[in-house]
Amino acid sequence: MQVISFMAIKGGVGKTTMAFQFAKFLQTQDQKVLMIDLDAQKSLTGTFENEHFNFSGKPTIADVLEKPSSGLIETQVQDNIAIIPSTSNLEEVADRLASKPNRELLLFMWFVKNVQELNQTYDYIIIDLPPVWNLLSKNGVAVADKIISPYGTKSIWV
Ligand SMILES: Nc1ncnc2c1ncn2[C@@H]1O[C@H](COP(=O)(O)OP(=O)(O)O)[C@@H](O)[C@H]1O
Ligand SMILES: [Mg+2]
Repeated sequence: MQVISFMAIKGGVGKTTMAFQFAKFLQTQDQKVLMIDLDAQKSLTGTFENEHFNFSGKPTIADVLEKPSSGLIETQVQDNIAIIPSTSNLEEVADRLASKPNRELLLFMWFVKNVQELNQTYDYIIIDLPPVWNLLSKNGVAVADKIISPYGTKSIWV
C-alpha cells in the first residue's frame, strides 16, 4: 500500500483534479483505491456527489480525526474506489482539535490502528488536501509516502 497526498499551499492548481484522475487511472489498472478528502471545501467529495452519490449520514474524515481509534469507515463509491468524504464543518472540527496533543498525527494514529486492514484492502490511498498549511494538511502530509504538488494549471507565458 502506498499513500499519496496532493499538497500545495495554493488553490486552483489542480490538486483535486489530479487526485481524482489518478484514482480513476488506478481503477483501470485494477488497483484498489481509498480516497480521503481533507479539504472542508469538499471538492473531491462533491465530484462523487455530482455522480449522484449521496453521503448524507455517512461517516466523514471529521469522525476519524475526532476519534483516531475508529475502524474503517469509508464509503464504497465505485468498483475499486472508496472514499472517506469531507464535511463542511471540518474547519470547526480542526479548530476544536487544535489544543490536542499530537494534533498533527491524528490521521497517522488512525492509520497505525488500522494498518493491517488498510494494507489488505487497498493498493493506494490518495489524499486531497486544502490549499493552506494547517492542521488538516499537516495530518495529510504526516501519513504520506509520496507528495504530489502541482505547480499550476496555467502557463505563466500566456
Ligand atoms: N490540467 C488541467 N488543465 C486545465 N484545467 C485544469 C487542470 N487541472 C485542473 N483544472 C481546472 O482548474 C480548476 C482548479 O482545479 P482543482 O483541481 O479544483 O484545484 P485545487 O484542488 O488545487 O484547488 C478546476 O476548474 C479544474 O477543472
Ligand atoms: Mg482542491
